[in-house]
Amino acid sequence: MIVLGSNSEVAQEFVEKALKEGEKFSKIYLFTSHAETSEKFVKHIQVKYVQQAEVVDLDLTKEIDWSRFEDINSDLVFCAIGHLGESTEESLYDSKNTEKIISINYAKLIPVLNYFAEKMERKRSGTLIVLSSVAGERGRQSNFIYGSAKAGLTAYLSGLRNYLFDNKVHVLTVKPGFMATKMTEGLPLNPHLTATAKEAAAHIYKAYKKRKNVAYVLPVWELIMLIIRNIPEFIFKKLKL
Ligand SMILES: NC(=O)c1ccc[n+]([C@@H]2O[C@H](COP(=O)([O-])OP(=O)(O)OC[C@H]3O[C@@H](n4cnc5c(N)ncnc54)[C@H](OP(=O)(O)O)[C@@H]3O)[C@@H](O)[C@H]2O)c1
Repeated sequence: MIVLGSNSEVAQEFVEKALKEGEKFSKIYLFTSHAETSEKFVKHIQVKYVQQAEVVDLDLTKEIDWSRFEDINSDLVFCAIGHLGESTEESLYDSKNTEKIISINYAKLIPVLNYFAEKMERKRSGTLIVLSSVAGERGRQSNFIYGSAKAGLTAYLSGLRNYLFDNKVHVLTVKPGFMATKMTEGLPLNPHLTATAKEAAAHIYKAYKKRKNVAYVLPVWELIMLIIRNIPEFIFKKLKL
């Protein structure tokens, strides 16, 4: 198994859920931009599940040395990479903040997903599970740079799923609403609409086993986004969302 963004609590909960369910992996590759923190998780799964695991450096803000990934193959890729960035009035027009959001959520991420998708296509098997966001469904004033990058990611995943279908490779697009993780720490989230990392991982695992194409976390977000998508633009542009 390959985990991209392995310090995400949701990613780690997904790994634990899969291991608890008895999934067998010859090795788990934990890609991360914070190797030291991921080493702790390696030790944890080695001790608790006798699972072989290895940390692989991947920082999307830096040049990628693709040769390091040549021998890494897997039937399952779980991608939790994401960067919310700043969305205050001052940061909105800040080019560094904007570039970072677009590159981590989209521009630098797509080549990595493509790299592993191509390996799966050659083997004619595998599943890619990628966390996008409900923020990609309609641009809102509170986070439209992030939302636009996630919209691009969602469109890419839809096309990739379509492209890989004949090659028996499956793509699951996950569209979380709110999740209580380090990304949202300190934000005033409605508890009724917020999943814990553990709950999110359980939802995603279920969707993976059912070979769903698109899954919302929590399911109530499917209804919320149906409403949000259907608000006429002349009303939507006046809302403070
Ligand atoms: N939390 C929410 O409410 C929410 C809502 C909708 C969608 N999402 C999406 O769900 C996914 C998981 O998010 P989360 O809530 O678990 O947040 P998180 O804890 O911040 O996880 C995101 C992970 O992305 C990786 N990452 C960030 N910058 C990177 C970089 N420069 N290079 C490589 N990897 C980088 C980090 O992993 P490493 O430290 O291991 O590198 C980080 O742990 C993300 O795609 C996020 O956009 C979250």
